[in-house]
Amino acid sequence: MVATSHVPAIGGAIAHGRQQETYWKPFFDGFQAVHRWLGQAKPDVVVVFYNDHGLNFFLDNLPTFAVGAAPEYRNEDEGWGIPSLGAFPGDAHLSWHIIDQLVADEFDIATCQQMKVDHAFSIPLKLLWPDGPAIPVRTVPIAINTVQHPLPSAKRCLALGTSVHRALASYPGDSKVLLLATGGLSHQLDGERAGFINRPFDQKCLDALVNHPEELIGYSTRQLVELAGTQGVELLMWIAARGALGGTAARLHMNYHIPISNTAAATLLLAPAA
Ligand code: DHB
Ligand code: FE
Repeated sequence: MVATSHVPAIGGAIAHGRQQETYWKPFFDGFQAVHRWLGQAKPDVVVVFYNDHGLNFFLDNLPTFAVGAAPEYRNEDEGWGIPSLGAFPGDAHLSWHIIDQLVADEFDIATCQQMKVDHAFSIPLKLLWPDGPAIPVRTVPIAINTVQHPLPSAKRCLALGTSVHRALASYPGDSKVLLLATGGLSHQLDGERAGFINRPFDQKCLDALVNHPEELIGYSTRQLVELAGTQGVELLMWIAARGALGGTAARLHMNYHIPISNTAAATLLLAPAA
């Protein structure tokens, strides 16, 4: 499992080759260990837990949980960042397998046979596979509402992930699946607290996510907003993906850097404990 921030300005830095500049280097260098690990792990498909920011879903129609089941997903973001991204290939077979399990586990999800994906999906995938125009994996997007309140609870997001874990455990064939969480960590983009970052809370989350994610599920949405910032609730993606990893985990790599744009940028690489 990889978890990482998805600040749109990262796309601009990639597009303009700024990875070695003083501002960006501490963030991009945090991916070297991830690239080495991916080179060995060679996943075939990535299940991406991300939050749409108003591109595919808007306030008039906003599912709490939505699972993509399309042959491909196009990025049609705000227009800044990486130019001319090709379509991301889907894996409708795995999508429907996950959907079957989620519905069996009584999650009332939306299923999307057409779905546009925004920077929260595209940028982390380009951070993982920076070379070439296309990524070498199929994708399954799982979008969690962090735009319009009420948001799903941390407890519910962990349970959603656990259901995805069950789905993956029963998936026939030998596809290697990577879990990817995008968003966070603490940040607030607007209002009186714009620029708010909470390093101690981020550290607590980064520790808890390894083997005690249940320590994070007691927080209400209001508490998460207070502690992590209005947009820091994107932590929910990390909690969901950790549920999907299941069991006990080993932390293979972590990077934490303040700030990238308005965000405490973090990258976490976990593997199932041997
Ligand atoms: C920023 C962070 C986000 O998570 C996002 O979706 C947009 C912008 C930022 O820090 O600039
Ligand atoms: Fe975001």
